[in-house]
Amino acid sequence: MKKARAAVILAAGKSTRMKSATSKVLHDVGGRSMLSWVKALADNVGVEKIVCVVGEANADVRAAAEALGMDIAVQEPQLGTGHAVLAAKDNLADFDGTVTVLYADTPLIRPATARRVFEALDEGADVAVLGFEAEEPAAYGRLITNGDELTAIVEAKEASPEQLAIRLCNSGVISANSKDMFSALSRVTNDNAKGEYYLTDVIEILKADGRKSVAVIGDEAEVLGVNSRYDLSLAEKAFQNAKRKEVMDMGVTLREPASVVFAYDTQIENDVEIGANVVFGPGVSVKTGAVIHPFSHLEGCVIGKDVSIGPFARIRPGTIMGEGSRAGNFVETKKAVIGKGSKVNHLSYVGDAEIGDGVNIGAGTITCNYDGYNKHKTIIGDGAFIGTHSSLVAPVTIGKGAFLGSGGVITKDVPEDALGLARAKQVNKDGWAKRYHAAQAKRKNQKK
Ligand code: UD1
Ligand code: CA
Repeated sequence: MKKARAAVILAAGKSTRMKSATSKVLHDVGGRSMLSWVKALADNVGVEKIVCVVGEANADVRAAAEALGMDIAVQEPQLGTGHAVLAAKDNLADFDGTVTVLYADTPLIRPATARRVFEALDEGADVAVLGFEAEEPAAYGRLITNGDELTAIVEAKEASPEQLAIRLCNSGVISANSKDMFSALSRVTNDNAKGEYYLTDVIEILKADGRKSVAVIGDEAEVLGVNSRYDLSLAEKAFQNAKRKEVMDMGVTLREPASVVFAYDTQIENDVEIGANVVFGPGVSVKTGAVIHPFSHLEGCVIGKDVSIGPFARIRPGTIMGEGSRAGNFVETKKAVIGKGSKVNHLSYVGDAEIGDGVNIGAGTITCNYDGYNKHKTIIGDGAFIGTHSSLVAPVTIGKGAFLGSGGVITKDVPEDALGLARAKQVNKDGWAKRYHAAQAKRKNQKK
């Protein structure tokens, strides 16, 4: 029978090294907060109940954790990782199942790795710890093993020289039956070098109770913990490199991979081509055959099949580009549905708009969607031709097949198949320029 799963996410630390008004775990990696990454991991591996442990000083973390639907436990003061998990005891009083401890500042653990921790429990271990081979073990806790059994975790500050030579380290993830976990935690003391209640002491305590612990080994890159802005940059780099590899493996061409920035949820189908210096904010999906030319920025949009974007385009939230449509250089779109094969090729702003199929929007066209108080909609029917430098003062509807002359300030609806002209009539004065130049030149010479 599958056991119920709970997670305790530790986020009560002070995070002073970030030098930020924002708590550390709310800083973003790949377009979402570290806290949200860890929450997503827990959801992804079938955890039903999540308790986030926060300090009184982390009001922003508390609010974010609540917004993400987590239970809150307050740890005040912060007396160590064991003390932190114990703070969640009341939240889990009625819970019977497996408790897994996760750190909110360790965002990149993959679901597959967390599942292996659960598998170790299913296969009979009482406690499973996620470990890794550290390049430089430094301050990490060392995993002491005997055959396949994990017999203790020794913090670096408590370790003997022989133990310090061990490179197998503790990631912080630990999973055990909730009764065992809390029973052991109630017996942890702070009689150690840091004067803290170490979560890691539960391994030896549970061993004395006759429980067996094991270590599951993950990659060092995924257990990377963030303490500083530099660490944050390393986590971002690790995420970006993994995502670039993932999309390329799925059949996407990246012309200059290191310059393409993805978000955690970017979805790209095969045979999409992405040029250099393209940035994806959250919520972008790109269908097969599309080309994203260099220096384009996309967020919250759907890029249809065979669409062409950029170079230098900004595609903002709510944009849906229909099959074969185009948004060219220096084009900005927002909340715009652009129909099949329609073109917005140059220097335009299209916002709060519904554009039909086969529409041509001339260079420099602007939807004037905002009156200083409210946003209004522009609707353009199939096959319409919008002359260059049109200002479409919304709300306004351009009928199917209509044709707008260049430079119009269009304030009234234009019927289907009509010509819409909204500019002053041109006046030509024969010989005027020649007379003007002669008069000006004469005046200038008289002054000398
Ligand atoms: C901990 C582990 C160590 C492991 C390392 C991995 C212990 C005793 N040590 O050490 O074996 O190799 O993580 O990164 O567990 N926190 C609280 N309340 C507290 C203390 C910490 O919520 O009172 C939170 C922190 O915000 C952080 C996490 O727990 O998210 C880890 O705490 P930290 O002090 O960084 O532990 P380490 O000393 O790095
Ligand atoms: Ca740490």
